[in-house]
Amino acid sequence: MKIALALVSLALAANAAPLPRIEKASGHYRLLVDGAPFLVLAAQVHNSSGWPAQMEQLWPAAHAMHLNTVEVPVYWEDIEPVQGQFHFDTVDAIVSQARRENFRLVLLWFGTWKNGTMDYAPAWIKSDAARYPRMLDESRHAVRTLSPLSHTTRDADAAAFRALLGHLKQTDGDTHTVILIQVENEPGSLGTDRDYSAEANRVFDGAVPEALVRKLGRKPGTWTQVFGDEAGEAFSAWSVSSYINAVAEAGKQEYSLPMYVNVWLREQKNFMRPGEAYPSGGATTNMLALWKANAPALDLIAPDNYVLDPDNYMGVLDAYRRADNALLIPETGGPRFPSYEFSAIATYGALGFSPFGLDSYWQNGKLIELGEAYAVNNRLLAGVSPWILKLRDEGKLKAAIEAPLLTEQLLIFDDFEVLVQFGRAVASYGGSIAQGNPEPTGHALVGELSPGEFVILGANARVQFRPRRGSEKTHAEFISVEEGTAPDGVWKSTRRLNGDETFFGVALPAGGRLLHAKVESY
Ligand code: DGJ
Repeated sequence: MKIALALVSLALAANAAPLPRIEKASGHYRLLVDGAPFLVLAAQVHNSSGWPAQMEQLWPAAHAMHLNTVEVPVYWEDIEPVQGQFHFDTVDAIVSQARRENFRLVLLWFGTWKNGTMDYAPAWIKSDAARYPRMLDESRHAVRTLSPLSHTTRDADAAAFRALLGHLKQTDGDTHTVILIQVENEPGSLGTDRDYSAEANRVFDGAVPEALVRKLGRKPGTWTQVFGDEAGEAFSAWSVSSYINAVAEAGKQEYSLPMYVNVWLREQKNFMRPGEAYPSGGATTNMLALWKANAPALDLIAPDNYVLDPDNYMGVLDAYRRADNALLIPETGGPRFPSYEFSAIATYGALGFSPFGLDSYWQNGKLIELGEAYAVNNRLLAGVSPWILKLRDEGKLKAAIEAPLLTEQLLIFDDFEVLVQFGRAVASYGGSIAQGNPEPTGHALVGELSPGEFVILGANARVQFRPRRGSEKTHAEFISVEEGTAPDGVWKSTRRLNGDETFFGVALPAGGRLLHAKVESY
């Protein structure tokens, strides 16, 4: 009997879907959920929306935006209102709503840090500064941030986080509604570049830990000798990353979900002073190498990308897409950002993309215009996500993004060139030239599935083909153009386009279009 039971539980364990995880294969990162590659099409709810009644209002918005994942905060002050007494009613209700609505969740741990302050720490922490010290600024005034050097505070946060992860393992360990955990929120300090308490000064005047110096390939010395003008910020980055690494480790000991930290960026921020324009000690681009070296329990470091202009936005994606760091955009938002979603996923290999403030995209029971644009993207991407993930790893997926005065883009594939035009094309010297859309919102992805077989998706654009320059052929023609989807990687056509719909190339209207095309040259 005992043997039979053991065999049954072995068989069950063998059948249980593997935990969500991030892996690197052939030089490319991917997120696996229940063993299959998963593209995170998410939005983050407002800070005070991680409550069951609030979330009930937001699931219709998540459906309308064609999300597969929603990012929701979990508040330390809610789960541990009295030290050591945990309750998870809020989390349980939200997980069960998400399951009912068929969404995955990314849970955001609002613990010691929320935007460079300690606002979500429970009252028993906030009211006991003797036990849970604040950081002191240069003139010894306390700021609204807990000191990252306090092991007492760190251990309290780690105990709460451990309890949360232990609870998730029990309640979600087989179902994996929760696929990722953000540890803290935009950590670092506002109001000072580092802690200037007597104890902090003592540590700051000492040597940079040998292991850190070695990993960074620097010469040993004090913080000032090793990091010069950035010494205070580097000291903070080391103390904050050590603290968060310990919190993440404690959580993973209970339940090893993939974990990341998000970053309030320094790019395009005023005078770029740490502690003023952005929280000092976060994993900003200048501190990224230090964080990667010092926080191995984190699976990745993710930029909250609100940089407006396309060049600098892409610069941020490039900086956080590293051989040792998978890219994820856990927060973003701005007027042209649906186009940026295509670049982030196709060109920079992002595991996922998540505009902030789902609540704001939903007004009077409808999506606002920007929300509609994300909805179009997500619907198209979800329609062919296995192809998208495969083609981008093979280097066979290309994005064309409209920008002010950038009205056309030529995408070069092995045997074909694909011209993507934005707005009306008018006759001009050298052929027709696109004039651009009234607002530069056009964007398209083109992927080559096999020679002459393409997937095309996007909005506000027109796509034409020619044989690759240098081949003997001069013209290309469509053999077939079909609308449809392939959510599981197998194409299901819903209609064929021909005649006016393909004569001048294929149009991707404002409402978006997802196409499978076969092209031949002659
Ligand atoms: C970034 C933070 O991480 C979010 O929690 C939220 O405060 C947004 N900023 C608001 O823009």
